[in-house]
Amino acid sequence: FAGGPVLAIESSCDETACAILSAEGVCLAQKIVSQDGHAEFGGVVPEIAARAHLALLPGLVQATLDAAGMTPQEIGFVAASTGPGLIGGLIVGASFAKGLALSLGKPFVAVNHVEAHALTARLPGLVPDGAAFPYLLLLVSGGHCQCIAVDGVGRYRKLGGTIDDAAGEAFDKVAKMLGLGWPGGPALEKLALAGNPNAIPLPRPLMGRAGCDFSFSGLKTALSQKLAPYGQDPLPHQFAADLAASFQQAVADVVADRITNALHMMPEASLLVAAGGVAANSVLRARLEQVAAGAGLRFAAPPLRLCTDNAVMVGWAALETCREAAALGLPQPEDSTTRP
Ligand code: KG4
Ligand code: ZN
Repeated sequence: FAGGPVLAIESSCDETACAILSAEGVCLAQKIVSQDGHAEFGGVVPEIAARAHLALLPGLVQATLDAAGMTPQEIGFVAASTGPGLIGGLIVGASFAKGLALSLGKPFVAVNHVEAHALTARLPGLVPDGAAFPYLLLLVSGGHCQCIAVDGVGRYRKLGGTIDDAAGEAFDKVAKMLGLGWPGGPALEKLALAGNPNAIPLPRPLMGRAGCDFSFSGLKTALSQKLAPYGQDPLPHQFAADLAASFQQAVADVVADRITNALHMMPEASLLVAAGGVAANSVLRARLEQVAAGAGLRFAAPPLRLCTDNAVMVGWAALETCREAAALGLPQPEDSTTRP
């Protein structure tokens, strides 16, 4: 099988990242740049992101090799996220990785970005007692919001997902309405510390309904209506803090309700895993922990640097898929172009 070490590249959004993992999945080095240049636009600009990946990757990959004390020839194979994500950045990262693999005469392995988030919890030493299959994954980021039954490597069932916005997008938009910087999630969580989560009544979309789909656009609209009377005037600080706390509480209530249903849909799960940038939110984490404990399950959320986009998860997913293919006697997924 395509033996390690693996050099992995992540470029699906605004993080340019490279990591080198041993064949066993031990991270030997990693470098990540969270691109600036998007904040003034209040969101990731795909064209700017793609060009920045192009400018950053050669130096970043070299720095990662240097940090691992390795020459390119010592790499076993090269992997990259090839989707889903912003297409310009994905093309830059995947083309760079393929070019590197070709020049070294090593295999290239394409990695599905969501699969990489899904398998992160299985990184050696991350979850006490390990993350054995099957488990329930809640993926909540700026671009994704879904409940996935992770039955095995390459065996995933989407139990539910958002019918409009992703949770992180809602956090970012609400933060923008409150005049906070971008990305909005961390800033909103900080402001909410000073607020009362029960101060301002807000809807809980889809709560109490069957299934585990999500909806956040109505919550966003309800919040914007609370702001309307202020027009262009600055918001009183306490009001803004109360809004932030009430919004965060509404999201946590909805997610707890949806995950409770998802767990009923997957009674064989013994572990609940949260991943994606929004899983960094401590109020949300606490609620998920509560729900899991109530259902007699373990709960795990990777540390923040592995929750948000990174290349370690890409390398790990590549190792897992290659290992699985070898175990099943399938052709190696090398020189694949996409894993949709
Ligand atoms: O996984 P990620 O880095 O990128 C993708 O979207 O794939 O997630 C970024 C998202 C942003 O929307 C950001 O506002 C949100 O995660 N986020 C948070 C927190 N930290 C990051 N949302 C709520 N609370 C946080 N502490
Ligand atoms: Zn992601």
